[in-house]
Amino acid sequence: MKFFVDTADVDDIRELNALGLVDGVTTNPSLILKSGRDIIEVTKEICGIVDGPVSAEVAATEYDQMMKEAAVLGDIADNICIKLPLTLDGLKACKSLTDAGHKTNVTLCFSANQALLAAKAGATYISPFVGRVDDIGTDGMDLIQEIRTIYDNYDFKTEILVASIRSVSHVKIAALIGADVSTIPPSTLRALVKHPLTDKGLAAFLADWEKTGQDIAG
Ligand code: E4P
Repeated sequence: MKFFVDTADVDDIRELNALGLVDGVTTNPSLILKSGRDIIEVTKEICGIVDGPVSAEVAATEYDQMMKEAAVLGDIADNICIKLPLTLDGLKACKSLTDAGHKTNVTLCFSANQALLAAKAGATYISPFVGRVDDIGTDGMDLIQEIRTIYDNYDFKTEILVASIRSVSHVKIAALIGADVSTIPPSTLRALVKHPLTDKGLAAFLADWEKTGQDIAG
């Protein structure tokens, strides 16, 4: 499973990328707002840090304007992936952009039928929002399982990009289901490494090593 980092914070992206943990980046209008940066400027900087796809979201809601915005965003760098909302206009733009050779990410997916539509529109990625589904009292990971089954039934090539991840458990279940990508907030990505038994074991090994009086590297 690929890891995308769900942020427009270039310091976080740089640090996680240096660890070899970043296969791509996703942004959205809320993350651009949080960054306090100009969308073109910050997206260009992110595209220069990571080799993988960087999703940049259109703000228009109507097809013609979406296509104009997609042209501007697509010009930022070769690794831009155009992010479009799961509406009829968004699906139409997805089809046009996919046919023109762009990578596309259809976002704000909350049902299996919506994911089916995105696959039929040729989306490179579908972004089901698991955390927001959990928020209304249903299980977001059930949605991932449903989409996995439908895509496998028909051999759709659209990749399932699990979004709105809120916990390390979301990442584990996404991997168990066989999702293609998880887009993960930086703090959750760092939390994946944590285990108290690792810390306890390491402390014991270091204490014993100290007692040997040895020095490996001299
Ligand atoms: C990423 O592509 C999504 O926009 C993001 O994961 C949404 O996360 P949120 O529900 O925490 O805002």
